[in-house]
Amino acid sequence: MQLRDNGLRFSPITVVLHWVVALSLLAILSLQVMIGQASSEAGRMSLVHLQNLMGLILFLVSIYRFWARITAYHPLPVGTPNPIEVIISRSVAVALALAMVLLPVAVWASRAAAGEGVGLPGGFSIPALLPTNAALKQVVDVLFDIGASAFLAGLALHVFGALKNHFLLKNNTLKRMLGKHVEL
Ligand code: HEM
Repeated sequence: MQLRDNGLRFSPITVVLHWVVALSLLAILSLQVMIGQASSEAGRMSLVHLQNLMGLILFLVSIYRFWARITAYHPLPVGTPNPIEVIISRSVAVALALAMVLLPVAVWASRAAAGEGVGLPGGFSIPALLPTNAALKQVVDVLFDIGASAFLAGLALHVFGALKNHFLLKNNTLKRMLGKHVEL
């Protein structure tokens, strides 16, 4: 099996982890809506713990993914896109991968500075390690808000690019990310 991306194709690991991350993110956002609507405190806490677990999985997968992205070739683009678009889309993709490492750290740091651990299902938790500090929490929360807004803008651009390639340019960019073998 091809373990690393090369100039001609993504590795199956990249393809699987790309969609694992996209689905984990969707699950985290859906859980956030469910947490807001939970009718009991016990129900709310078990959803929070599940969301924390998804965040931990996302974080661990993203460390590998970011490393793999910056240490392997990005396959050549499908078709003949404008080089500026290629540079922008690749920079956005790397920034998205990095954000999935940094944003979970910011959530953990914010909770730690508030004196809370990050609870997980089964009574486990990620220790706080940082001192309780209201000023630190405020700084981390501002950084998180800026990072999360930039991330959402980048993600919107990324998804727009994928849909434009698929529906407007009618090329195999999206199908390649879904595992289709594309000859370049
Ligand atoms: C519906 C959601 C998404 C769609 C349709 C989508 C689509 C794509 C496509 C088509 C590519 C291949 C681009 C190319 O050929 O160069 C790609 C690559 C990439 N995407 Fe997404 N994507 C989505 C969500 C995400 C999310 C949530 C992230 C990260 C948070 C992400 C990060 C990346 C990265 C880093 C790459 C480069 C390949 C890699 O290292 O995985 N994408 N995406």
